[in-house]
Amino acid sequence: MRLQDCHNIADFRRMAKTRLPYPVFHYIDGAADDEVTKDRNTSAYDQCDLVPDVLAGVEEIDLTTRVMGHDIALPLFLSPTALQRLFHWQGERAVAAAAQKFNTWFGISSLATVSIEEIGESITTPKLFQLYIHKDKGLNRMMIERCQAAKFDALALTVDTIVAGNRERCLRTGFTSPPRLTPRSAISFASHPGWTLNYLLREKFHLPNLDTHVAEGSNVAISVADYFNTMLDQSMNWSDAANIREQWGGTFCLKGIMSAADARRAVEIGADAIMVSNHGGRQLDGSRSPFDQLREIVDTVGGEIEIICDGGIRRGTHVLKALSAGATACSGGRLYLYALAAAGQAGVERSLGNLQAEIARGMKLMGKTRIDQLSEANLRWR
Ligand code: FNR
Repeated sequence: MRLQDCHNIADFRRMAKTRLPYPVFHYIDGAADDEVTKDRNTSAYDQCDLVPDVLAGVEEIDLTTRVMGHDIALPLFLSPTALQRLFHWQGERAVAAAAQKFNTWFGISSLATVSIEEIGESITTPKLFQLYIHKDKGLNRMMIERCQAAKFDALALTVDTIVAGNRERCLRTGFTSPPRLTPRSAISFASHPGWTLNYLLREKFHLPNLDTHVAEGSNVAISVADYFNTMLDQSMNWSDAANIREQWGGTFCLKGIMSAADARRAVEIGADAIMVSNHGGRQLDGSRSPFDQLREIVDTVGGEIEIICDGGIRRGTHVLKALSAGATACSGGRLYLYALAAAGQAGVERSLGNLQAEIARGMKLMGKTRIDQLSEANLRWR
């Protein structure tokens, strides 16, 4: 399969599957328990139909929207995801460069495989750092200070991951970071020599944003579940979130809000934005989808805080539906991760280009020239 054969995210997923050793592919593709929520995050968009307006003179359209104080050219941004240099040797460098090219937000994970400082220097477009709250308060403080020094534009605190979701595909494949050699995984690595050679020959893989605190540990193979369950602070509460916002002092977002009541609390602690998200179905299976929860949240806090609809997006029309339902913008992970795994930066750019074209075409077919013209009037629920 070649890059030019990838016309949508399902194509990129197929290509990624052929390129990656199976434990790595299933780490990206998998989710919690029976993966009901992961699937519903996407299928929820089919419960609602678009109603276009016609003869609207749509020659010139403008996809610009303002998110967390920055004008972005695409109403869709790149959610933070861990371990990207495992998926392709270019990792976060490629994803950040592609985000810059499309002038949209890039999110870097606490568990990124390039440093906060490198990303801070490499792109001028808006960048957010995703923070997990660790038991080790010094580690949290150190990461916030590094983001301040590197002039990050926003901090997103992930609140849906106090324990690891039950990701059974990872249990079956024995996925660890760095990857562990077992008789079965060895066969998969050997049968993907391109990936394996790149992995072995490039700079040593590690987690630079945790380094000083987990210096010994960062090159020891651990499962992501072990990491979450041992390192993260399960006692975290709203006052901790408010403290983190204060320490940071800049644009602040809560990632993983699903209820209208929590959206209200986010407003009360002074957050600038929420990402309505269930972590791509990787945490609480059986959770409602972000799109299904969106209207309730918009009805409760719309206009008081920015509302990002995160997860499940596989088509430009999904973005148009979320924007019509009142989202400020959308975001996603797998929509660029499959493409990164398939073809590095060229893959991410092609995937974003496809989505941009789908959004632009959809806008024209909807009879809209600007994002703020999309509204509930263009939606019907089944
Ligand atoms: C994630 N996500 C995630 N979220 C986060 O806050 N910190 C992280 O380190 C990660 N890592 C991560 C790795 C992988 C492989 C995936 C697929 C996801 C969740 C991510 O930010 C986002 O919420 C989901 O990916 C959204 O769902 P979709 O777009 O993948 O369907």
